[in-house]
Amino acid sequence: MRVLLAAAEMAPVARVGGLAEAVSGLVRALRDQGVEVEVVLPDYGDVRLQRQFETELESPWWTGPTRIRSGSHSSAGELTLVGVTGMARPHPYVDEHGEGWPDNDHRFMAFSAAVATLTRRSKPDVLHLNDWHSAAALGMLAAPPPTVLTIHTLGYQGHAPRAWLEHLPVGTHHFSWHEGCNPLAGGIALTDRVIAVSPNYAREIVTPEGGMGLDGRLKAIGDRLVGIRNGIDTATWSPAVDPLIAAPFDATDLSGREACRDRLIELAGWSARKPAIVAAVTRLVDQKGIDLLVEAAHYLEAMPAPLPPPRAGGASPAGSPRPVGGDASLAASLHELASERPESVFFAEGYDEALGHALFAGSDLFVMPSRFEPCGLAQMQAMSYGSLPVVTDVGGLHDTVVDADARRDGTGFVTDVSAAGIVDGLHRGVRSLRNANRRRAIQSRGMSIDWSWDAPAAQHIGLYQELLSARA
Ligand code: GLC
Repeated sequence: MRVLLAAAEMAPVARVGGLAEAVSGLVRALRDQGVEVEVVLPDYGDVRLQRQFETELESPWWTGPTRIRSGSHSSAGELTLVGVTGMARPHPYVDEHGEGWPDNDHRFMAFSAAVATLTRRSKPDVLHLNDWHSAAALGMLAAPPPTVLTIHTLGYQGHAPRAWLEHLPVGTHHFSWHEGCNPLAGGIALTDRVIAVSPNYAREIVTPEGGMGLDGRLKAIGDRLVGIRNGIDTATWSPAVDPLIAAPFDATDLSGREACRDRLIELAGWSARKPAIVAAVTRLVDQKGIDLLVEAAHYLEAMPAPLPPPRAGGASPAGSPRPVGGDASLAASLHELASERPESVFFAEGYDEALGHALFAGSDLFVMPSRFEPCGLAQMQAMSYGSLPVVTDVGGLHDTVVDADARRDGTGFVTDVSAAGIVDGLHRGVRSLRNANRRRAIQSRGMSIDWSWDAPAAQHIGLYQELLSARA
């Protein structure tokens, strides 16, 4: 089976958020299971390929010249990179102030046009699009192969001026959206299947609360909308073999975790050991609810010190957000919190892979106060690393974390979306740390679950096959 998969990000080639991790994990697992995947990404520049083959791609007049580079990337494997005018930039979506590039509509419409051309040329069995960046390809393909469109988030839909409709000759009216053009809306109407990145997100997005304006359209496609939970890339996220952490450990022997915890305390620059370490690793955008955490942090000092020996300090939120393109005021409030309480709050701004791994391996609790979360990967990484997740009851967090106070098979703590909810969840989490046996039981349940891409990739293959036999 040959699949052409197009996306705006893939780790480590181009990485802003979870989309990059999800795409690289899925592609690796599909290839392992025998699917031939042609990956098509925008060429943001600076990516080295071996055995590179460069050529001009025929393209509609309005895109300007399109150059493609194909070759092998040291860790992502075979890739095709699409270079169109203005694509090569230091950040895929935003300038140094976090503002979207003014020509993003042109950049990704031209990328979508190239995806359409490459699809016509290589005639894959299945076309797999991701998010709005490539969705417009369906407006340019008169006879597309069986197609799936994965929605990693409805938060970005690619709203563009109405004039773009002119360049979307197929199903034009599906792209027409209020006064403008909505690539994601058109893609949803024209694709054979929409995949939401978790079953619960698939349920949420057909409601007005979760649909971000597209609920009607998503409801209209009925059972062409399916939910498949993401996996995590266990080649990178496995504490038994992770070269970036202080000491290896696994579900049967957690002793290495102590060294990881000490390393984290050292990285945070704290002078004393801490009773409970709470971590977060996230992009600083509204969706992630970090403002709720900042609010909650003001109540955390008052928490009774939970672990023997009791020491001052309370719970310690540590964080390594990925604010590239994030909200500057959120970063400012975190810096402020960290400077007010250097002994209990540590904040690092920017993407730091080693620190990220250290946070999962060394923290006791891992908090995700998301307002919405299509799937979320960090909670699965946290469980794999024995850090108990404290999460809001939304999207894929609902599907992956079981509340340990509500059920015997609990793996973490689930709260509602509010600062009070986060405080309650952290309280319950900290209380569980006090009872070593209980903590250990919650940890080992989370660590024993198979969070890899094996099963989700097999579900994708099943879906591709279903579409292929329906066509035949
Ligand atoms: C987006 C979503 C996140 C999801 C990721 C990968 O970043 O916000 O919930 O896990 O895409 O699908």
